[in-house]
Amino acid sequence: MVKDNIIITSALPYANGEIHLGHIVSTYLPADILSRFYRLLGKNVVFTCASDDFGTPILLQSEKQNKTPEEYVKYWKERDLKDFTDLGIMFDDFRNTSSKENIALTQYFFNQIHKNELIYKKEINQLYCNTDQKYLPDRYVLGTCPYCKEDNQYSDGCEKCGRAFNHSEILKPTCAICKNEPIMKTSVHYFFKLSALSDKLKSWLDNNQNLQKDVKNYVIRWIEDGLNDWDITRDISWGVKIPIEKADNKVLYGWFDNHLCYISTTVEYLNSKGIDGKKFWNDSTIYHYIGKDIVYHHYLFLTAMRLAINEEYKLPDFIPTRGHLMLQGEKFSKSRGMYIGLRDFLNDFPADYLRYYLTRITPYDQSDVNFDWDDFQVKINNELVANIGNFIHRVLSFTNSKYNNIVPEPGEFDKDDKELIKLIQDSKKQIEENIENNQVDRAMKIIMDLSDGCNKYFQKKEPWKGNSENTIYVSINAVHSLGIMIYPFMPNSVNKLFASMNIEKESTKWKDCGELIIKSGHKINKPEILFEKIENKTISEQKEKLK
Ligand code: 2FM
Ligand code: ZN
Repeated sequence: MVKDNIIITSALPYANGEIHLGHIVSTYLPADILSRFYRLLGKNVVFTCASDDFGTPILLQSEKQNKTPEEYVKYWKERDLKDFTDLGIMFDDFRNTSSKENIALTQYFFNQIHKNELIYKKEINQLYCNTDQKYLPDRYVLGTCPYCKEDNQYSDGCEKCGRAFNHSEILKPTCAICKNEPIMKTSVHYFFKLSALSDKLKSWLDNNQNLQKDVKNYVIRWIEDGLNDWDITRDISWGVKIPIEKADNKVLYGWFDNHLCYISTTVEYLNSKGIDGKKFWNDSTIYHYIGKDIVYHHYLFLTAMRLAINEEYKLPDFIPTRGHLMLQGEKFSKSRGMYIGLRDFLNDFPADYLRYYLTRITPYDQSDVNFDWDDFQVKINNELVANIGNFIHRVLSFTNSKYNNIVPEPGEFDKDDKELIKLIQDSKKQIEENIENNQVDRAMKIIMDLSDGCNKYFQKKEPWKGNSENTIYVSINAVHSLGIMIYPFMPNSVNKLFASMNIEKESTKWKDCGELIIKSGHKINKPEILFEKIENKTISEQKEKLK
């Protein structure tokens, strides 16, 4: 059972480039759908995110552009937030990992974990490039994964097998800047005793029934294979300063501070509303939405850090994890042109088309999802336009032409009327269950089946032959119910729909689905077309762009 307080976070985008469709599929859209659904249900939802500001790639890029890292991340934060907003991703708050509050919380965690003797100092051999005269953390090094032997991996983890590791483990390292082989040079680093928390982590995984079974199993296998302690510092200047260390050129690793920004953002947001943020955090059902490439960091690092300070901040209940996005059957890749930026998409299509299509094709598991332009056209035209759009438009235009926009007075309901009302009520229950189980694709499918049932009802009743009061009365209410059901998925279209039905969106509640809320005598406004067919030419142009 979920609590009345719900905290939802989406993995933080690096402040280092635009949001693309790959980010949306696993991390932002399903989280936004859930938050809108629970708000309709009357829960106290807080949905937060932030820009992930620290780390080597960002420092490198800002240097290249002759900007301070602060200026550089400010640009991307604003840009990302604008793109999210235009897709209808509605965060309550969006802050920065480099915010004062997050730095303070990170240093607090460090000090507490240190006090609990789970952080130690060790001199290690670091990869160092003699040509560039610098230590080479993470993205500065390319090499072979020590576990699955995949080439071309960065030194902090492998994209193929998903393991995170310490840089000294990488095989055949080369400097990412000059391609020369780095040397080893000593440096003092801080380590987090991840290994000491193995039992606690395993027992948390064993006991949490909300986590997806397949992810849980492979994380348990990682623990059983033995966890290494985690190097939580880096020899660069852009990051959270280590509280007990003087050196300027040594900071905490980005993965030590970034997930803490889920907490700092949420707590600060609530505090600013006069609510005790920490208390709320600890009395909430917590969801962290991620893509499968950061399972290790969320199931192990994030969890272990909260365990290391005795769960002063509650652990997550759900870590919904989904797969990568493919494009036309190929790997998504900017350098090869197999890529769609969110802004580019929004320039050409309504946001809700993307929300609909991605929801329909994305299951609640780690399998990869394929964005295919032909399939996109088919799903928009045959489902959104020909099914839901068609029903809504028929009902509203009929009310307009035959009843002068006024909902008629029904007589006694016949079998078909009653069956449709029952179908709506049954569908509502199933949709609810599926959304609560994170199966948003299945929930969307049930809505489509319901809409199909509505079309069949309308067709069978033949209101154009007369005696149409019941049909229109029931259908207008069916449109209202469908509107509530699709709101979490396609909020812009529903706002438009409710405006044309003269319904106040603000007072809409999930429990109104399946009820005959719209009474006879209610006056609707002029109907508007909600969804429009996509022409073949438009799709060919999009495919052309990928070449
Ligand atoms: O992988 C990434 O894109 C990271 N920026 C995600 C960070 S999520 C975190 F904050 F936990
Ligand atoms: Zn690997």
